[in-house]
Amino acid sequence: MSIPQSSSCLRYFVVFLIQGLIAFLLFAYYKYSNNHSIVPAYSNAEPSNKPASNLIILLWTWPFGDAFPLNSCQKPFDNPQCFFTADRKYYNTANAVVLHHRDVCTSKQQIPQTPRPEGQYWVWFNLESPIHSPNLHFMDNAINLTMSYRSDSDIFTPYGWIEPNEDGDHFAIPPKSELVAWAVSNWNPHSRRVRLYEELKNHIQVDVFGNGHLPLARQDTLAILSKYKFYLAFENSIHKDYITEKLWANALMSGSVPIVLGPPRENYERFIPANSFIHVDDFPSAKELASYMHELDKNDTKYKQYFNWRTKFKPISKLDWSIQYCKACIALHRAPPYRSMPSLVAWYK
Ligand SMILES: *[C@@H]1O[C@H](CO)[C@@H](O)[C@H](O)[C@H]1NC(C)=O
Ligand SMILES: *[C@@H]1O[C@H](CO)[C@@H](O)[C@H](O)[C@H]1NC(C)=O
Repeated sequence: MSIPQSSSCLRYFVVFLIQGLIAFLLFAYYKYSNNHSIVPAYSNAEPSNKPASNLIILLWTWPFGDAFPLNSCQKPFDNPQCFFTADRKYYNTANAVVLHHRDVCTSKQQIPQTPRPEGQYWVWFNLESPIHSPNLHFMDNAINLTMSYRSDSDIFTPYGWIEPNEDGDHFAIPPKSELVAWAVSNWNPHSRRVRLYEELKNHIQVDVFGNGHLPLARQDTLAILSKYKFYLAFENSIHKDYITEKLWANALMSGSVPIVLGPPRENYERFIPANSFIHVDDFPSAKELASYMHELDKNDTKYKQYFNWRTKFKPISKLDWSIQYCKACIALHRAPPYRSMPSLVAWYK
């Protein structure tokens, strides 16, 4: 086939394209060879195709069956040098296998049955509280590293944390038109949190959202809750370090003052400033807690003191699965050559 007459222009265009491509490849090579952040995209290629420094991390299950993009770790958990996969054919070559407790706890057959390759870590991952974590003994003499909201886990994966507030991140208290909000999905009339609510509502107006109460669509949650001066961040059960998105997302991210029910005040103060929240245990009764909230409602100076910490810090609440696994990658690179957690039962209480 002959080249058409009008092709000199086309030829220039092709040369231009090729030059552009070369420039791009050089740029990409330069960029990746300088910051070492190359992370292979998910592929079915054999493990031997990957850079040698990458650890292979196998997700034994997707957490709660929830698939998400792998190999896309974001700052500051980027540069992780791991290859993540949910494909069990990597079992024999994986450096670590992450077992998400709630997906493997209904029978012992759900944890890997084939012999464990030499040097492979089994990582136990769980964000549920102990009372919602059945059959911990299935993990006896199987686990090497723990990954949970407990700060003494090998891989600490809290529901949220505090970061320095960089210049320019000026926090403004959202406009407030409402008083107290509470979003609750699991209504157990005998639970401490429901009993406390029943008493509180005799002394202060509490708007309840969730199943059978006021509607709260996911995309509107922050906008609605931010109108409230206070948010009842009541945990479903009380355990060391068990401080969930009720505090981090619903209260702190929305800019309302958390009224917390959970582990003792000192436990909260390990993670958030003492003047950023109100602890129910600080009051002898619901009546006194309510009257303190009324006092803050009337005195803006006093109310605003609960936001002073925000000039230095800001809350981060990322329930993103990918961040948790990216943290595991970083921790695995530093893991000791031998580590074991013979029994979770005594530790996870
Ligand atoms: C409001 O609170 C501030 C700070 O605690 C206090 O100094 C002030 O006296 C209070 N104002 C009133 C009217 O109670
Ligand atoms: C992981 O724990 C198991 C069970 O305790 C142990 O046999 C294995 O050697 C450990 N592996 C590593 C890499 O620590």
